[in-house]
Amino acid sequence: MGHHIPISPHGGRLVNRVIETKMNFDGMTSLEISNDLRNDIENMADGIFSPLEGFVGSDEFSNIVHHGRLCNDLAWTIPIMLDVDKKTSASMKDAGEVLLKNNNEYFGLLHVDEIFSLEKLPVARALYNTDDLKHPGVSKISAMNDFLIGGKVEVISRISESPIRKFRMTPLVVRSEVQKRGWETVVGFQTRNVPHIAHEMVQKAALNIYDGLFLNPLIGKKKQGDFKDELILNAYSSLINNYYPMCSTIFATLHTEMRYAGPKEAIHHAIMRKNFGCSHFIVGRDHAGVGQFYHPFAAHEIFKNYPDLEIEPIFFPEFYYCKRCLGYSNAKNCPHGQEFREVLSGTKMRKMVSSGEMPSEYLMRPEISRIILSYSDPFISTS
Ligand code: ADX
Repeated sequence: MGHHIPISPHGGRLVNRVIETKMNFDGMTSLEISNDLRNDIENMADGIFSPLEGFVGSDEFSNIVHHGRLCNDLAWTIPIMLDVDKKTSASMKDAGEVLLKNNNEYFGLLHVDEIFSLEKLPVARALYNTDDLKHPGVSKISAMNDFLIGGKVEVISRISESPIRKFRMTPLVVRSEVQKRGWETVVGFQTRNVPHIAHEMVQKAALNIYDGLFLNPLIGKKKQGDFKDELILNAYSSLINNYYPMCSTIFATLHTEMRYAGPKEAIHHAIMRKNFGCSHFIVGRDHAGVGQFYHPFAAHEIFKNYPDLEIEPIFFPEFYYCKRCLGYSNAKNCPHGQEFREVLSGTKMRKMVSSGEMPSEYLMRPEISRIILSYSDPFISTS
């Protein structure tokens, strides 16, 4: 295939903030960072959140939350937040440069720019369109500290390798792989679930048209009742080995939190995959949804507000198995009624598994069902 120009990172330049340093850390103020936030700091350093180079200040924050854009108008819908309590915020103010610490390791630097208060309720309402504490994003914000820090970050030491991170890739690595394979179009797929057949069908429908598939499950903090990360990883490994042509698939995990922000998170998911080099991004039914908080196709609608995104969404209606079509269909291409349909959804799979039921082969590959049923508890029990 010929040479082509790969899709630009969001904002035009892939951020790289991994540095080597011989700095002397003696006497520096340090700040303890959770495992989840450390993942996101590494994501910033690797350019997954390009153009962000750190935690945004109050003006950018307020633009993101209320307008879904940065101050320079570039699309950005989900704020990445570093929260501290009042006492810590006071010590940060004078420190200027702060060491970031996690699991007894100094892994990064934060150049403190600004400290501002987090107005929890208005922020939760603007981001999630609700202030109901049953929404996992709202409940997370309500439990946060009262102050946010803005400032650029640098990573001096990466998170150590472990089986769950075996498939993590940086955007640079994915981009060079895409280049090597000569793909002109790459379709990104986000998921937080164990794969059911509708997932496979939307991916393969996209592969009918585009050159390559970037299969990119999200590994990281999720709500209670979602499938465990290790299980998702095992299930995908098995699915790929049995059902995917490796010449048209790149499999990598994305280590960040689910935020359950429905439509806004769909934009965020698309931006991250753009940074990985995807030209297209799959958005199906109830993307990044939770409970009944968002209309199943709100994540399609929101893309109308972002014609400048550059990565192109591929919208799919709800896929189901139709017993009269003898195949995977949707309301656009199948005339048969509800009574012939086997609905495919993560919620339904979780319900079946909870009651010890093996999903039929219409719903889930038998290899995957067996892996799920081999777990005594396949679900996250604490959020
Ligand atoms: S998500 O929270 O990561 O969006 P999930 O892993 O279930 O949840 O979905 C991954 C992608 O597949 C999303 O784009 C979602 O809209 C899509 N999807 C899931 N189930 C279906 C279905 N039955 N029909 C069409 N698209 C679906």
